[in-house]
Amino acid sequence: MSQWNTDQVPSQSGRVAIVTGANSGLGYETTLALAKKNIMVIMACRNMQKAEEAKQKILANYPDAKVKPMKIDTSSLAEVNKFAKHFQSHFDRLDLLINNAGIMMSPYEVTEDGFENQLATNYLGHFALTGQMLPMLKRTSDSRVITLSSLSYKWAEIQFDDLHFKNSYSKRKAYGQSKRSCLIFAYELQRRLSASGQNTLSLAAHPGLSNTELDRYFPALIRPLGALFLQSAKKGALPILYAALAEDIQGGEFIGPNGFQEMRGYPTKVEADDYSNNPAIARRLWKVSEEMTRIRYLDGQDELLNPAP
Ligand SMILES: NC(=O)c1ccc[n+]([C@@H]2O[C@H](COP(=O)([O-])OP(=O)(O)OC[C@H]3O[C@@H](n4cnc5c(N)ncnc54)[C@H](OP(=O)(O)O)[C@@H]3O)[C@@H](O)[C@H]2O)c1
Repeated sequence: MSQWNTDQVPSQSGRVAIVTGANSGLGYETTLALAKKNIMVIMACRNMQKAEEAKQKILANYPDAKVKPMKIDTSSLAEVNKFAKHFQSHFDRLDLLINNAGIMMSPYEVTEDGFENQLATNYLGHFALTGQMLPMLKRTSDSRVITLSSLSYKWAEIQFDDLHFKNSYSKRKAYGQSKRSCLIFAYELQRRLSASGQNTLSLAAHPGLSNTELDRYFPALIRPLGALFLQSAKKGALPILYAALAEDIQGGEFIGPNGFQEMRGYPTKVEADDYSNNPAIARRLWKVSEEMTRIRYLDGQDELLNPAP
């Protein structure tokens, strides 16, 4: 696996994937690579013009690509719910759900659901989306859910007493908390899938440091430095693609780059800290996530509670 890339992957014709945030950066590269393997990719994007432009770019690169833009805003439970219904009315299988959309270190903002925006966009929207997609994932053999974390999960633990930073906001901690939540979620999802006898796999992935639009909230002066120091988005997408497509994979693994400090390189299995692997913290996060999203799944009841209209 030391130099793994998608050349080693056979055609995946007939399979269907959802990639959130597919118009830019890692989501774009992941979509292009999956489409080149003949997977039908739903480009789940918040801006349909950008999604259409990305689709045209993919078709120029690979004219046989089967890619379909579909609107989602992961910061809104109502929009996630709308997307889920839209998808379910068009497709009857889901092989790969790539929970990728994200923002980093944005100014303080509270979403329409009353959530801190980074937690909502990066984590809670994907928690809700996964719950809504689970019945279809279960019906599709060899399905996988890949959730994007980050090295910055180390920046914060979960502030259970102030999840939405109502007392004081740190954009760095809020990003760290959201990516820590994604990682804990990926592990806990696998525990619950295994416990309920499901074949769907859950994995976490991180791209090291990759040159994308994620630095949009950074000062304009330092943004060009990214191109000099960071690995390409194409390389950064490899851990996501490995988690999604490789055969020597098990649920509950975390995939990142194999270079120095996991900042760049080819995909490999990486370890997270004890806090992220702690089942008690994971159960607590799952419970508050169910309460906040009003979507309950894999907790013995498997029902959607009052999803957004
Ligand atoms: N780049 C890195 O080094 C790095 C490191 C660790 C983790 N990650 C993770 O990788 C993922 C992808 O980021 P990226 O680096 O590829 O950044 P990016 O180029 O900025 O792409 C982010 C994508 O997410 C979309 N998005 C943002 N908010 C959304 C919302 N509310 N609803 C739906 N889509 C939304 C963006 O759409 P618009 O274009 O419309 O804004 C864009 O398509 C993120 O989860 C990020 O945390 C990246």
